[in-house]
Amino acid sequence: MCGIVGYVGRSAATPVLLGGLRRLEYRGYDSAGVTLQSSEGLLTLRAVGKVARLADKVRAEWSDARQASCVVGIAHTRWATHGAPTEANAHPHADAGGRIRLVHNGIIENYRALRAKLEAKGHVFTSETDTEAVARLVGEYNKGDLRKAVISALRQVEGAYGIAVVSADEPGRIVVARKGSPLVIGVGEGECLIASDPSALISHTRRVIYLDDGDVALVTADSVDITDLDHAPMDRDVARLEFEVSAVEKGGFEHFMLKEIHEQPESVRNALRGRLDLLNGTAVLSGMGATARELLDLQRIVMVGCGTSLHAGMVGDFAFEELAALQAEVQPAAEFRYRNPLVDGRDLVVAISQSGETADTLAAVREAKDKGAMIMGLVNVVGSTIAREAGRGVYLHAGPEISVASTKAFTGQVAVLLLMALKLSRGRRLSRERGLALAAEIARLPELIEAVLRQDAAIAKVAESMVKHEHAFFLGRGPMHPVALEGALKLKEISYVHAEGYHAAELKHGPIALLTPGMPVVVLANRSPVLDKTLGNAEECKARGAHVIAIVTEGGPEAAVADEVILIPDCDPLVATIPAAVALQLLAYHVARLRGCPIDQPRNLAKSVTVE
Ligand code: G6P
Repeated sequence: MCGIVGYVGRSAATPVLLGGLRRLEYRGYDSAGVTLQSSEGLLTLRAVGKVARLADKVRAEWSDARQASCVVGIAHTRWATHGAPTEANAHPHADAGGRIRLVHNGIIENYRALRAKLEAKGHVFTSETDTEAVARLVGEYNKGDLRKAVISALRQVEGAYGIAVVSADEPGRIVVARKGSPLVIGVGEGECLIASDPSALISHTRRVIYLDDGDVALVTADSVDITDLDHAPMDRDVARLEFEVSAVEKGGFEHFMLKEIHEQPESVRNALRGRLDLLNGTAVLSGMGATARELLDLQRIVMVGCGTSLHAGMVGDFAFEELAALQAEVQPAAEFRYRNPLVDGRDLVVAISQSGETADTLAAVREAKDKGAMIMGLVNVVGSTIAREAGRGVYLHAGPEISVASTKAFTGQVAVLLLMALKLSRGRRLSRERGLALAAEIARLPELIEAVLRQDAAIAKVAESMVKHEHAFFLGRGPMHPVALEGALKLKEISYVHAEGYHAAELKHGPIALLTPGMPVVVLANRSPVLDKTLGNAEECKARGAHVIAIVTEGGPEAAVADEVILIPDCDPLVATIPAAVALQLLAYHVARLRGCPIDQPRNLAKSVTVE
């Protein structure tokens, strides 16, 4: 949510800043802005809309020679929280004298009070943002030492921030700080970069410093000097980025989403690598960092997450109960924190998050920690806040996920939850035979996904039958119920079709009233102990004129009720959630493509939601 880029070095800053913003655009794309340090003072341009609009403006207003002479700058791509996406609300924001510019990701919770105080002193605000109050506050404190001024200002600030600040009076310096919103510094040769996430840095350097909450850094072309808010020096390690530049490029695919869908055989293989013990029918998850005794003593597992990650947790819920006979529950992270949850030292709280940044999930981790629960992160982004605060857990290793609609993170999350369930089932309900059989099924996941991907063209054909409809239902039972929710979520977020996921048996308790002739009803009717019941529910829809699209098991029982079928390979019903989800991702993708939607960046959304 909002992307920040900074550059201080010896080359022209604008190509680096705009290139970085393009990489971060998935974090927010309603407006963008850039400030350069120049011999004439600070130069700023802002534009409503995508980064391309800002780039046009930069080309039109700043000559090549002017750009070439500016080697320091900060830039921002916005996802509006306070104030509409207008040029006045776009970052960078200025102090009263216009000598300072600041970009911000996060939310300043006490901005009203700060604003009122500043207005009482004569400040006239030019935007509706929370950020402008911070920029003006820094200006108030600035007596020739920007870092000091930033620290003094931040000591007044409540809320979450990642900020980068430049001053006209301190050439060659950027001051950055973070609390609750991510910031990473790239350390190059004679240049440093700043970004909200490493995807904006990888084409420049692999050496990065992840800032911790409370860190303030003075960054120059050759140095990074970090202190806390009490001016005490802080030592931070330089880490190495392990992914390739190609991971953040489309690589010939029309959209990141399609590329990421097709990456799933590999991303799931990475999630499983070295973690499946096929000889003993269990999983090796060293990151869980718990002894066998501790795991056996667990009385309950509570999964928290938001959006797609929440749906992955709902699949995990079935796996934990069925395999490990362990009481499991899933809670929306946003709810967990405020319901005064009943958790203690014998409960395991698993925080599921692709980005590792989602504010509600992070708040849930902190709440669970306060209550003394054992915490684990199930996170994709290495070094992210949730991964670090959880302290232990399992990384997905899915690689960067750029498309706003999550795909490979979901399948990675479900795969790892199956591994965790397998591991926790040791000494509990699961027999050795079932453990061995299930481990072998999980190991087949990459090929099961490939089998679904091979049907891309057939799924695109099914999408044609859905494209004209403004409403759709997705139905499933057992572990396929959350897959139905996820399929509906994918469709609505990228194609703007109103889609509802329901437990197949629940439809007749109300929602069936919405069925009209021809309405697409996607039914997850794979081989499972409840298949007959599911098909019965599909018949109920068919009888009311629905257009039934069934996801069925290849070679399995015929779904005579279906108008169209999508095949998934035969496999264990828990494992089948993954190939079924891939089929629904492709279905949503093709509907959105046929409807001409901006697939990677749907309206109103942002990839990581760092506000509650
Ligand atoms: C946003 C994204 C969703 C995502 C959710 C949770 O709403 O648009 O795709 O599922 O956040 O994100 P997380 O990074 O915590 O998995």
